[in-house]
Amino acid sequence: MGKFQVIDHPLIQHKLTIIREKNCGTKVFREVVDEIAMLMAYEVSRDMPLEDIEIETPMGTSVQKTLTGKKVAIIPILRAGIGMVDGMLELIPAAKVGHVGLYRDHDTLEPVEYFVKLPADIAERQLFVVDPMLATGGSAIMAIDLLKRRGATNIKFVCLVSAPEGVKALQEAHPDVDIYTAGLDEKLNEEGYIVPGLGDAGDRLFGTK
Ligand code: PRP
Ligand code: URA
Repeated sequence: MGKFQVIDHPLIQHKLTIIREKNCGTKVFREVVDEIAMLMAYEVSRDMPLEDIEIETPMGTSVQKTLTGKKVAIIPILRAGIGMVDGMLELIPAAKVGHVGLYRDHDTLEPVEYFVKLPADIAERQLFVVDPMLATGGSAIMAIDLLKRRGATNIKFVCLVSAPEGVKALQEAHPDVDIYTAGLDEKLNEEGYIVPGLGDAGDRLFGTK
């Protein structure tokens, strides 16, 4: 089973509370999602492999650490995942970005695919699939299904708020995928929204509805 981690850093928890508030407007919501994503990038990249290289400092020759291993791609699930991309790129600026467009049908809660554009070499990359919300898990499962069908093998899923139902479903469907979240909430309501959650992440990020 992949790792499941609630990233309980005080800065992340504080910022998550800010965006949960229903009176938090679009501007602040967007800025704070960006900040949380940057802080989460620090945690989710913690096990990136390092190798020794020899460098010249002004004082002489020295063996020091540098990143090695797979290159990274960040894969936002549209729309709301877009809000997490810039924050992650601040810490991993050389990452490529692939987009997976899914929306949840409001009646069935099933995800519907409408757009996929990925770097050609995703099979060779460490992928960070990002989406603020893991509710039923349907969107994350479908996004990871389609990435695996295209050869991806090394995938981590990063979200802001998760429901126990979604975590369980994602772990069962993709036991090899590590899941990182800033908050594990209580439950889903009858409409498939996370409670207490933060509402509709896409609408709050983009000021729609
Ligand atoms: C939201 C969210 C996730 C999905 C989570 O997207 O950003 O992608 O719902 O729900 P699930 O775990 O039950 O699949 P939504 O379908 O509202 O689309 P949007 O990002 O375009 O607003
Ligand atoms: N999608 C959202 O944006 N919010 C939820 O609470 C559930 C799914």
